[in-house]
Amino acid sequence: MRTHLVTGGCGFVGRNMVKRLDAQGARVLFIDDLSVGTHPDTWLGQRLRFEHKNLRIYGEDERLIFLQADLRDVLRELNKDPEWFRKAYGQDLVQFDDIFHFAAIVGGRSKIDGDPMLVAQDLSIDAEMFLYVCRNKPCRFLYPSSSAAYPIDLQTESNTLQLKESDIDFKKMGEPDMTYGWSKLTGEFLAKIAAQHYGVHLTCIRPFSGYGEDQDLSYPVPAIAARAAKKENPFEVWGTGKQGRDFVHIDDVLDLTLLAMDKISDGRAINIGMGRLTSFLELIEVFTGFAGYKPTIKPLLDKPVGVHSRYCDMTWVEENLGWKAKISIEEGMRRVYEAAKRRSDN
Ligand SMILES: NC(=O)c1ccc[n+]([C@@H]2O[C@H](COP(=O)([O-])OP(=O)(O)OC[C@H]3O[C@@H](n4cnc5c(N)ncnc54)[C@H](O)[C@@H]3O)[C@@H](O)[C@H]2O)c1
Repeated sequence: MRTHLVTGGCGFVGRNMVKRLDAQGARVLFIDDLSVGTHPDTWLGQRLRFEHKNLRIYGEDERLIFLQADLRDVLRELNKDPEWFRKAYGQDLVQFDDIFHFAAIVGGRSKIDGDPMLVAQDLSIDAEMFLYVCRNKPCRFLYPSSSAAYPIDLQTESNTLQLKESDIDFKKMGEPDMTYGWSKLTGEFLAKIAAQHYGVHLTCIRPFSGYGEDQDLSYPVPAIAARAAKKENPFEVWGTGKQGRDFVHIDDVLDLTLLAMDKISDGRAINIGMGRLTSFLELIEVFTGFAGYKPTIKPLLDKPVGVHSRYCDMTWVEENLGWKAKISIEEGMRRVYEAAKRRSDN
C-alpha cells in the first residue's frame, strides 16, 4: 500500500487532497497544527479508531493518521532521526511515497498585508521541509508555490499581462507580492536545488486563486457567496471591486497537481488557473444573480486590495500536459453558492 504525507492536511487544499488520496485507497499521514486548519472530525467522514498522544487514527483499516503538531518540530525530530515516528508512536512511517507540502501561513489580503512577519515564518517551515526531503528522498515531492511569486509590476492597472511561467526568471528578478511572494519564490529556488543537486523528484505548482465549497470565509469567493445568500444590500466590496483574479476550482487544482507530478520531476513550476480574469464586481454580479437581486455596490476604499489584476497564461500546460480546467466559473461559483445557501438556511 502506498503511504503519503500531506502537510497542512487540515487546510483548504490539504483536506481536499487527503480525501482524494483516501478515495484512492492510500495510507495517509497528515500533519497540521490547526492554527488555521479545521479538525478532521468535522470533515474526514471516517470513524476515529484510536488515539495515542497527539496522533489520531481514523477509518476501519486505520489508513488515515492525523498528527496535530507544528510541522517544524516534527521535521526537526525526523531530521535528527528518521526512525523517530516508530520510536515515538510505534508507527511504521519511515519512508513516504508522495509528499504534498501544503503547510504554510497563507490567508487573505488582511494577513498578507497586515502581518507580513508572521507570513515570513513560511521560510522556516519550508527550510525544514527541504532539508528533510533532500536527506530522506520520498518517491515524489510537491511544492506549492503561488501566483504571488510573480513580479507585481506585471499586474498593475496600466500593465496587466497574462502571466507565463517564464515571467519568473532567477537571473532577471522582479519583486514578488510581499513576504508571502518572497517566501514562495525562495521555495521555488530551493526546489530547483533539491531537484538538481540532490536528485529529488520534484514538481512545483503556482496556483492562482483556488476556491471551493469548503473554503474559509476569510477568502473572497466564499465570503461574497455567503453575503449574497443573505441578500446583503448595499453590497460591500474591498477597493473599487475592479481588481481581478484568475479563479480556479479546487477539483481542477488537484487534478492538474496530480497530473503534473506524473509528468514533471525537475522542479519546473507550472501555472494552475483558468487563464481568465474575473473582477470582484463580476463575482458579486454572479452571486447576487444566483440570489435573485441587484444590490447597490458600496466600495470600501480603505481596505487592502493587493495587485490590480492577476491572471495566467495556460498555454504551456495545455501544449505540454494536454490539460484544461473542467469546471467553468459559472458552474464552480454555483456550487459555492449552493453550499453557502445551505449554511445560511441552517
Ligand atoms: N488556496 C489557493 O488558492 C492557493 C493558491 C496559491 C498557493 N497556495 C498554496 O497552497 C498551500 C495550501 O494553501 P491553503 O489554501 O490550503 O491554505 P490554508 O491556510 O487553508 O492551509 C494551510 C494549513 O497549514 C497549517 N499550518 C500552518 N503552519 C503550520 C505549521 N507550522 N505546522 C503545521 N501546520 C501548519 C494551517 O493550520 C492550515 O491548515 C500553501 O502553501 C499556499 O501557499 C494555495
